[in-house]
Amino acid sequence: MLLLVACATASAAARERLSLDRGWLFHQGDLVEAPIVGHEESYSNAKAGSAGGAAGSEYDDSDWRRLDLPHDWAVEGPFDPKANVAQGYRPRGIGWYRRYLKVDPSDRGKHFELQFDAIATHATIWVNGNVVNRNWSGYNASYIDITPFLRYGDALNTIAIRVDAEAMEGWWYEGAGMYRHSWLVKRSPLHVVTDGVHATPRQLKDKQWSIPVEVTLNNSGKQAGEATVEVTVYDPSGKQVAQRTAQARIGVLATSSVQLPIAINNPALWSLEKTNLYRVTTRVIQGGKVYDEVSLNTGFRTIRFDASQGFFLNGVHVKLQGVCIHQDHAGVGVAVPDSVWEYRLRRLKELGVNAIRFSHNAPAAEVLDMVDRMGFVVMDENRNFNPSPDYMKQLEWMVRRDRHHPGIVLWSVFNEEPVQATEVGYEMVRRMSAAVKALDDTRPVTAAMNGGFLTELNVSHAVDVVGSNYQVPDYDRFHKARPDKPFTSSEDTSAFMTRGEWKTVKEKNLIASYDDDAAQWGNTHRDAWEAIATRPYVAGGFVWTGFDYRGEPTPNEWPSVSSVFGIMDLNGFPKNAYYIHQVQWIKDQPLIYLAPHWNWKQGDNVRVMVMANVERFKLLLNGRELADQKVDPYRMNYVNVAFEPGKLEAIGYKGGKEVARAVVETTGAPVKLELVPDRAQLAGDGRDAMPITVRALDAQGRAVPLANDEVTFAISGGGRSIGHGNGDPNSHEDEKGATRHLFNGLAQLIVQTNYDSKDAVTINASAPGLQAAALTIPVKPVAAEPFVTLADAPLTFVRSWRIAPDGDARPDPNQKLASFDMNTWGWGSPPMRAAAGSKYHLYRASFTPRKNLADGSGHIRFAAIKGKAEIWLNGQLIGKKDSFAAGPLDVALPAGAGKRELNVLLEAEAGQGVGIEGNVTIEPAR
Ligand code: GAL
Repeated sequence: MLLLVACATASAAARERLSLDRGWLFHQGDLVEAPIVGHEESYSNAKAGSAGGAAGSEYDDSDWRRLDLPHDWAVEGPFDPKANVAQGYRPRGIGWYRRYLKVDPSDRGKHFELQFDAIATHATIWVNGNVVNRNWSGYNASYIDITPFLRYGDALNTIAIRVDAEAMEGWWYEGAGMYRHSWLVKRSPLHVVTDGVHATPRQLKDKQWSIPVEVTLNNSGKQAGEATVEVTVYDPSGKQVAQRTAQARIGVLATSSVQLPIAINNPALWSLEKTNLYRVTTRVIQGGKVYDEVSLNTGFRTIRFDASQGFFLNGVHVKLQGVCIHQDHAGVGVAVPDSVWEYRLRRLKELGVNAIRFSHNAPAAEVLDMVDRMGFVVMDENRNFNPSPDYMKQLEWMVRRDRHHPGIVLWSVFNEEPVQATEVGYEMVRRMSAAVKALDDTRPVTAAMNGGFLTELNVSHAVDVVGSNYQVPDYDRFHKARPDKPFTSSEDTSAFMTRGEWKTVKEKNLIASYDDDAAQWGNTHRDAWEAIATRPYVAGGFVWTGFDYRGEPTPNEWPSVSSVFGIMDLNGFPKNAYYIHQVQWIKDQPLIYLAPHWNWKQGDNVRVMVMANVERFKLLLNGRELADQKVDPYRMNYVNVAFEPGKLEAIGYKGGKEVARAVVETTGAPVKLELVPDRAQLAGDGRDAMPITVRALDAQGRAVPLANDEVTFAISGGGRSIGHGNGDPNSHEDEKGATRHLFNGLAQLIVQTNYDSKDAVTINASAPGLQAAALTIPVKPVAAEPFVTLADAPLTFVRSWRIAPDGDARPDPNQKLASFDMNTWGWGSPPMRAAAGSKYHLYRASFTPRKNLADGSGHIRFAAIKGKAEIWLNGQLIGKKDSFAAGPLDVALPAGAGKRELNVLLEAEAGQGVGIEGNVTIEPAR
């Protein structure tokens, strides 16, 4: 007979996903324990739960820094010219995190999973002194079942993480630490596993679609379970459009899947313009109660890469106007808050981007949700190219987590691998592609090759769509040789410009913004796009890069610390490339832009660039017509103008009519600061962060393009600064301090609301000689995400005890065991109870009190002792309990530091048992 798992308690609630971002303790630098030499230590070290030092349960972390995630410690530190150039001269190193966790006894029987969305770069994770995971990629999540290790009630649980950020997986700035979110997920023992709902729609015929849902369940309970799995599909308005159920039987500690193909007729399609998202909710039902519930969004759309015509979405041709991006932003490093990601994606949308390649790794899950909502197609890229089991797991994790996103249209298994034109490369890709297909056969697999695709056997033979990084001269040769193979640029451009600079000054590592300079392997923005746009068989392009990022300061080195490839700078401020691409990519709206600014010296001959998507334009200086030209949509237009102060105007025409106008004006000197918020209000959830533009205005309120004033910030109310930047790739300013220089007229401050505050955030900005600016941003009360209660640990638990053979003769309470004797005494951990029998029972343990108790202010607290007791510490009697009845005992801890030996001698009342029946803790005075 089958038994229901419904462990009769009140735990029928669906899953709880609690944020574990708050309340971490952090230590920068490694903590290395002295080598183990003794016999007993060697023996103990090898046992479950006995990791020592900072990895262990009991460790004095009272002087560690307290912080909330996401966190990147590398961006907090100074630059070092001797540090790695590719990582932006930021020393990374090693760090430790610890977090305490209390688990309510009423949750006993539930399934507990820790989730770390990503940690840079290698992480070793312990729970209660047990190694529970080693994750050797900075771009993969770890999901860890911690249920067997848990302690309930007052006995704290300890999570310890050693992060090795010396390890490098990239040649760009990778940050250091727990830079994405972390979670604790509580579920019923019979539950849907993480990423366990496969719901990727496919078109059957015309308007008939199916979601061949597959749900994977696990049962960590003590009995086999039977449950109803119910899958419900809701349309974009929230209306239920389909439901299906299936019965599942999951054995004890087993995992199995159920299939629930769901037919959907005539769904509203997902497209770049109309991001119709359907919600798929899976419930696990037992005895009429919902025991687990999980939802995801998906979308209905078709994709096709055609070898001669490129990419089609829902049968409509779409040229991929793409960018590659890393995860990195001014002020915060790789610890980019979700709301700053939203800002970045919004900027890309405004630019006319319709495709994103997350290079060279999978992004945060929240980012892919935004991408689906905002309407981009995505190349999701695997980081490590290696088909061996550990690495294959990384690839499979990405596909399992991401396959429901309608935005994802390509899986990329690698970026630029030297073996790409060899049999080895081909064999590796063949295996990795098969692994992807086994999990999702609805999207093509690609690999970003920087050459080699014309050789006899190479990776292009193992992928569905050939991705080319650069290699523009080979585009046509490839297409001619392999006319049936779909082809896209997977990376192009790699042009250089420093925001707001109009003269290249080699000694200062400054590069002009006229789009004249590109890496030897790359092309200018205009050349790269022309090559792609004019070839119908090329599905599209992915500009390297949408934004500047730290590290890889090519073509420069120190003192340059960030890249200059971006269409926008590290803050998301547009460079001139932004306007070049915008006029090429946005077609349904007349656009015209003028560059550079108009603050020059009399006598300067200025190269003026006009960027437009209209037919003709006229250029006027102070009302005088200087030029009337046909717009060149690929090359853009240039006019040399002898500078005179005033107003330079470009008027754009279509069919002879004025449709757009651009103006640059000569400004006066800066007289005041201005703070421009990105949005009207902040959410008071402790997470919402907003970039604020800082600029200087002249007396007439015009932004001064070359202002470089040093601004001091003061933030008060319900928020704080989490960093700032100015887009200067050569700046070594502290990104977290109170001051920042404007760079070519701009800086950006990022403020974030505090947890538990509804107060508005006020920012004051001042600079010598300028009128200060103040900005108050209202805070909308929004509850913080449910989170794991903070648990302080001023306590040391004495958990590991040795138990002497009992007897009726009083033993020497301070007797010692030979260090090699692991067997004559027993082992135990409170609660320890001995049944009625012998009179005397001796227990022995050691502990190291926290530093703050060395002055004698500490106490040893026994929550409950049954029997009379003598407490001996390092051979001295320090306390006694004179009654046989069970009760607490509190003994003052004598002053002193270091390891202590604790012996407890219990005496039983005739016919009764004894025991150390509750926790033993070393605590400060209460
Ligand atoms: C490519 C590479 C990118 C970046 C770029 C710079 O080869 O894929 O990660 O390094 O070059 O031009």
